[in-house]
Amino acid sequence: MTIVISAPATDNVCMRRLIYWVGMSIDGRIAGPRDEVDFFPQSEEYTRWMCEEYPETLPTHVRQHLGIDSSPSRHFDTVVMGWRTYEPALRIGITSPYSHLRQYVVSSRQQQRDPDVAVVSGDPAGLIRELKSEDSESDIYLAGGAALAGSLLPEIDGLIIKLYPVVAGTGHPLFRAAFSPTLFSLADVRKFEGGNAVLTYQRRQADAMQSTMPSAPPAERAQASAKTEKTERTGATPERSEDVT
Ligand SMILES: NC(=O)c1ccc[n+]([C@@H]2O[C@H](COP(=O)([O-])OP(=O)(O)OC[C@H]3O[C@@H](n4cnc5c(N)ncnc54)[C@H](OP(=O)(O)O)[C@@H]3O)[C@@H](O)[C@H]2O)c1
Repeated sequence: MTIVISAPATDNVCMRRLIYWVGMSIDGRIAGPRDEVDFFPQSEEYTRWMCEEYPETLPTHVRQHLGIDSSPSRHFDTVVMGWRTYEPALRIGITSPYSHLRQYVVSSRQQQRDPDVAVVSGDPAGLIRELKSEDSESDIYLAGGAALAGSLLPEIDGLIIKLYPVVAGTGHPLFRAAFSPTLFSLADVRKFEGGNAVLTYQRRQADAMQSTMPSAPPAERAQASAKTEKTERTGATPERSEDVT
């Protein structure tokens, strides 16, 4: 079954955001020209952090391999990906790569391969707006790739870039989109041994969510949001984003 979504834009202000969580080389490549993703070096310290802080971003079979398959999701409850990002799992016989999350795959030509993975044709922005309007404290994990991220750029609220210390030379870019400069502010930088780094960006816009960082777990964000509301009510000087995470 293929789901066709064409939801209208809404004016909803809600806490649920679309976060592009993605691995990238120094020269801005998310994969090699033939879809290679095995050239990204990662240190033990970085891998440990990812398993502890973002366990839900690992595919289910990798979680099982690492013995963390029962780790609760900390940031995301839903994953959205393009068909070409889903395909490598199919090639190794896995039809539900993130079975611990709700899964959507965007494709206008392909059919559903697993009852747990919805295939969405039509405007993916409509799907995102529908997901954002849900009552949930978790964010939406945009897994990529470049084509889907490019078409969803207007909907992306934050980016978490896992920066790997390698230059690819060529390959798939972070976004495949028309020239459309879009400002983000750098909210957090984490450095790890071995040269790995994680950069957190949030879309620059004047709304209440601006005072929280995408890397903050939902409970902390709710707390930060409450602080912002209180600040707005009392007229006190707002805290800097660094202070609320
Ligand atoms: N480093 C990382 O963290 C990371 C993350 C994700 C992906 N990757 C890599 O990036 C590469 C894939 O990138 P990609 O940009 O080629 O693929 P992609 O965005 O994952 O998938 C592209 C396909 O998704 C569908 N699609 C995307 N946007 C659409 C839209 N707006 N409307 C309708 N359908 C849409 C189309 O499928 P149909 O033609 O079937 O309609 C399109 O051909 C792979 O090598 C993957 O492994 C790396």
